[in-house]
Amino acid sequence: MTISDDDLINAAKEAREHAYCHYSGYSVGAAIIDDQGHLHVGCNVENASYPLGNCAEAAAIAAMVLEGGKRIERIAVAGGPGDVAPCTPCGGCRQRIQEFADENTMIITMDDSKDWQRYSIAELLPAGFHLD
Ligand code: THU
Repeated sequence: MTISDDDLINAAKEAREHAYCHYSGYSVGAAIIDDQGHLHVGCNVENASYPLGNCAEAAAIAAMVLEGGKRIERIAVAGGPGDVAPCTPCGGCRQRIQEFADENTMIITMDDSKDWQRYSIAELLPAGFHLD
């Protein structure tokens, strides 16, 4: 079964409902389709010790790795302080996504125009750090 981009965005919105974000009040959900066509989701989880909080993308990537996914085919990110609002992945999450991305990976997120946009990792993280 193929998951449409709209369904993937909805999965990110649903994951967002589980966000633990008492400190920022900013909830984020992420939904990944991996190289096998499997869905993995995550939400942000904050902590009283602020730097220990985790981003939604990190949680979704961890779920993907745990369940055997090797590569991100598509990832949708939905976030905001109330209703879904523009929320492009933070710098650290761009690096996290790059680890499991290739030139075909699509990152779907709402930009400042409040439209859902599709980006490649090269667009979001030009000249990103690689070990190889
Ligand atoms: N956050 C994410 O989950 N992903 C991002 O790409 C941007 C920021 C979370 C972290 C924190 O819990 C809240 O949003 C506010 O920064």
